[in-house]
Amino acid sequence: MQAAIITAYDAPPAYGEHPEPVARGDHEMVVDVLAAPLHHLTRAKASGAHYSASGVLPLVPGVDGVVRDPSGRLRYAVLDDTALGTFAERTVIDARRSVLLPDHVDPVRIAAAMNPGMSSWVALRRRITFPAGQRVLILGATGSAGRMAVQIAKRFGAAQVIAAGRDTARLQELPALGADRTLTFDEIAEAADVDIVLDFVWGEPAAGSMLPLLTARADRSASLTWVQIGSIAGASAAVPSVALRSARLQIVGSGIGSLSPRDFIAELPELATAVAEGGIDVQARAVPLARIAQAWKDHPARERLVFVP
Ligand SMILES: NC(=O)c1ccc[n+]([C@@H]2O[C@H](COP(=O)([O-])OP(=O)(O)OC[C@H]3O[C@@H](n4cnc5c(N)ncnc54)[C@H](OP(=O)(O)O)[C@@H]3O)[C@@H](O)[C@H]2O)c1
Repeated sequence: MQAAIITAYDAPPAYGEHPEPVARGDHEMVVDVLAAPLHHLTRAKASGAHYSASGVLPLVPGVDGVVRDPSGRLRYAVLDDTALGTFAERTVIDARRSVLLPDHVDPVRIAAAMNPGMSSWVALRRRITFPAGQRVLILGATGSAGRMAVQIAKRFGAAQVIAAGRDTARLQELPALGADRTLTFDEIAEAADVDIVLDFVWGEPAAGSMLPLLTARADRSASLTWVQIGSIAGASAAVPSVALRSARLQIVGSGIGSLSPRDFIAELPELATAVAEGGIDVQARAVPLARIAQAWKDHPARERLVFVP
């Protein structure tokens, strides 16, 4: 079969011949891949940098995708750490890490949405308590995950969603998706009275936002839960100690490890249904898998790239 193959961590995948996959365990099955998305997680694992990267080469990247199982049914599947990912004509999935999809769904939309959508979905459902009526600030709201977080927070009953980012043109698109306000990082103090921060950026923009946000709070003893989800602006952030003493700030992380695979998988069907029914806006661009070497090197598109074998 044809697949995208990485033989060195500093080079893009090459499209070429790969041995046919073989299912081994009781729950494994060989499936046809219909749509396999390129996320930051996919790139990080393929570069050997992510904490969950397996370190095995050669490697077929791709951590998830929409597949057709041997009985002809569509599934969205998340792969465990493996040297054979979803960037291939066929792969092996563990049925327990997949959910069945209705026949009519668009595989490209579902594939594009699930990883970025799941980031805020599980954070709000499983990592913190999120009663209706909360006020939410989203840092990095202009990216795929942030745009979906705006919509998901509203869907889960947020009273107010404030979308923050650096790209003012992209911020202007977010009120149509449910954002009540948009702010640049320089204006962050205007979001002082939120209850929850969903942080996709970390690094300097997050650290630099903490004190302006906290010191402008009307009641500093009111709880502020800062959910660390992504680190696109920096792996580390210099959190001022005074931020933790002078206000009721709690910082929690949400991602693989802080939540079990079972927690993620339990939430997949409802998110897939929401996306399939058109309840969540998704920006996706399908690209033939044969063109992966070029697409991998190009600057990241605004839309989520989804490879179609
Ligand atoms: N923990 C989880 O479960 C989970 C799941 C999915 C994603 N993530 C993580 O969440 C982050 C965002 O993912 P995504 O899919 O939304 O990525 P994306 O579509 O590429 O969007 C990236 C976002 O980050 C912003 N950004 C990039 N560099 C920045 C900087 N130096 N300062 C401020 N903002 C910056 C971008 O702003 P512009 O629009 O201005 O470029 C954009 O809003 C990534 O770190 C990803 O790994 C975590």
